[in-house]
Amino acid sequence: MVKKKLIIGNWKMNPLTLKEAEKIFSAISKSVSSIGKCSAVICPPFPFIEKLKKSSRKITLGAQDAFGEMSATGKGVGPYTGEVSGAMLHDLGVRYVILGHSERRALGEKDEEINRKVKACLASGLTPVLCVGERERDESHEYFNIVKKQIEDCLERVVKNSLGKIAIAYEPVWSISTTVGRRDATPADFKEMAIYIRKVLSDKFGAKTEMPRILYGGSVSPKNAYGFLVEGEADGLLVGRDSLDPEKFGEILKICDQSGI
Ligand code: PGA
Repeated sequence: MVKKKLIIGNWKMNPLTLKEAEKIFSAISKSVSSIGKCSAVICPPFPFIEKLKKSSRKITLGAQDAFGEMSATGKGVGPYTGEVSGAMLHDLGVRYVILGHSERRALGEKDEEINRKVKACLASGLTPVLCVGERERDESHEYFNIVKKQIEDCLERVVKNSLGKIAIAYEPVWSISTTVGRRDATPADFKEMAIYIRKVLSDKFGAKTEMPRILYGGSVSPKNAYGFLVEGEADGLLVGRDSLDPEKFGEILKICDQSGI
């Protein structure tokens, strides 16, 4: 079965109010109504999820993080003040969760913790969207090893049958819209890394394993979406800034839907 391409909006810590969130979400819902060939996912901040869930069936909800433990007892909620579990999110209707985003890694999150989150989210029935990517590209190509290590460590002890339920977002930090001195990544940059990621995965899990979808993220816009999807052969896109602009996000969805892939 061919999986639909995924267009995921990462709203980060935006917008400020529920009212504004509902306005953006309902404008995006209008563009989604004519989309058939790709799946639209929006990852709002936690407090907005429940309200937004009720206002669109065509947009799948995602979260931007989840805790790495299910619960202390296996029944109730564990003693983890301030945390939100995958099971709670699943119960709210959330189906995707961004894990290991570079902005969380910058706050100190390590591969080991991300690995616990990946396993807990899989066990809760969520699709982890595991973010990997180097901070910069060096001439000796060390960045391939950086991405390899992130993938191997974050997927440690993940069972091979779960791999197809995961999505991996390759987001080179140097291409993210808020990175100071950012540069554009090209579809060729992505394509080369996606081939490499598949090789790392087949070496780790075996050649016959069902592969995860590999998405591109980093300043995705209506201008470059076609290139990453068609030339870069991305299985989807992780969109930050432009996912808060309903017109632009709608256009990206339309490009994906009409790109004939
Ligand atoms: P951007 O963000 O599209 O604004 O570069 C992407 C991300 O950080 O997920």
